[in-house]
Amino acid sequence: MSVEERKAAGAAFNSAKERIESALEHRRAELALSKLEARLAEEALDVTLPGRGRGRGGVHPISRTWQRIEEIFGSIGFDVADGPEIETDWYNFTALNNPENHPARSMQDTFYVDMQDSGGLPLLLRTHTSPMQVRYARMHKPPIKVIATGRTYRVDSDATHSPMFHQVEGLWIDEDISFADLKGVYVDFLRRFFESDDLQVRFRPSYFPFTEPSAEIDLQFASGPLKGRWLELSGAGQVHPQVVRNFGLDPERYIGFAFGSGLERLTMLRYGIDDLRLFFDGDLRFLRQFS
Ligand code: PHE
Repeated sequence: MSVEERKAAGAAFNSAKERIESALEHRRAELALSKLEARLAEEALDVTLPGRGRGRGGVHPISRTWQRIEEIFGSIGFDVADGPEIETDWYNFTALNNPENHPARSMQDTFYVDMQDSGGLPLLLRTHTSPMQVRYARMHKPPIKVIATGRTYRVDSDATHSPMFHQVEGLWIDEDISFADLKGVYVDFLRRFFESDDLQVRFRPSYFPFTEPSAEIDLQFASGPLKGRWLELSGAGQVHPQVVRNFGLDPERYIGFAFGSGLERLTMLRYGIDDLRLFFDGDLRFLRQFS
């Protein structure tokens, strides 16, 4: 091209380039806007709708009792342990001086598991937390001072019994632990648990194959809605020499006490609940009262 032609063509090219660029720019802006509009439409919030909220969970009353028990016993030097709910016949009965065919076994009818342990013995859902006495004592050296809380099972079902319930087991074994220590520790526990000195505790003679002497611990409130009624809370006693032997210890040297208390009972008394089934119905109107 001649110099003149080049000038004119250059100007034409430049203006074409500018128009194309501005058309592209324009289209880009249009696309971005429509994309933004589509997204805004899609993510639109109706701020007038009521909020979904987030239901706040609460601690179940039985778990509250469980925590309180661990706190109270922990504060006076008890170790906290737990163990299996599927137990061998040996730990649940035999080791606790409750031999096969002994009539005391029928006090605790339970659910058997369709399997056997390695020794061919039946497996069952533990009927109490007492097998933890044996498991723990065989793994630790005296002094043995432990509580074990957890689920237990029996074939019982009514307003004060559930096929699944909770117990706390206590065990203190040393060279000189007596029934007096049981009384002191347990009465102190009850006063702290119920936050009241206004209660009376009664140790009523009873029978368990694994303690001798054995007692049932009853509680009576001196005031309040339950005033004057004796209520059974716990089994307890001096650990039987045969059981101390099954711990792997010499009963001539070691002695102590054990107790087993129902958590549902403690919880019902603390909050004035009259039907144990409420704990397991999952009714939020009931449960909310505790959170
Ligand atoms: N295991 C007994 C029960 O469930 C209670 C108990 C525990 C009694 C420890 C004595 C000592 O009935």
